[in-house]
Amino acid sequence: MRYLILGDIHSNTEALEEILGNEKYDKVLFLGDIIGYAAEPDKCYDRFLQLGGLGVLGNHESGAIRQESLFIFSSNARKGILHALKTMKLENLEHMKSLPLSLEVSDIAICHTLLDEPSDFNYVFPEDKDSVHLKNTFSIMKRKGIRALFTGHTHTPCIFRESGDGSIEVFKTGESVLFLDERPVIINPGSAGQARNRIPRAHYAVYDDVLKKVFFRTRDYDKSSTARKIREANLPEFLASRLFEGI
Ligand SMILES: [Fe+2]
Repeated sequence: MRYLILGDIHSNTEALEEILGNEKYDKVLFLGDIIGYAAEPDKCYDRFLQLGGLGVLGNHESGAIRQESLFIFSSNARKGILHALKTMKLENLEHMKSLPLSLEVSDIAICHTLLDEPSDFNYVFPEDKDSVHLKNTFSIMKRKGIRALFTGHTHTPCIFRESGDGSIEVFKTGESVLFLDERPVIINPGSAGQARNRIPRAHYAVYDDVLKKVFFRTRDYDKSSTARKIREANLPEFLASRLFEGI
């Protein structure tokens, strides 16, 4: 089975459709933050449901269903969530309440952040390799027999792997292939809809559970259309301009 793994789409239809139209897959797994920031949260959420609705809750969905928590978001993030609340179908907003915090599929798991405190949405960047959340997550993975955890949230592609002595190594992904062996890994394929690694492309991964290989991919997409829709929706200009810089 080939799993297409998409994180942090953030209402970006052009990035989502570019990937779906050009990749071979059997199932699609969504790492959360389908909504927020860009102009088309409902369209992206419809597509998620059409494709089987296999996905987890992101902090932007969490903000939409628990509006009392909106004060913790940045002003730009809050405006994106308010736009989603204004424009999305009630049934889609209701459906978000059923999204799990983590999901196990085949020999992998998906979660918007890490498995130890998934509802806290902790940020763990590549430079945070000594984070207790990574250590705790590797313990949970070993206990449950999870070979790889796919995660999003930071919009920063990377791989964390526990080495034999218990220390954690960090690797960049690039356009590469990772062969899964017995060492558990935590994989962030990066953001499909709002790259922040200065590579202004749609980032994603494909996992083949027969070959035990993860393919890291990026694609260019029609950023001008996404940006135009953001401006037409009167969302902050920065949410449009950042797409061209990958920041
Ligand atoms: Fe995000």
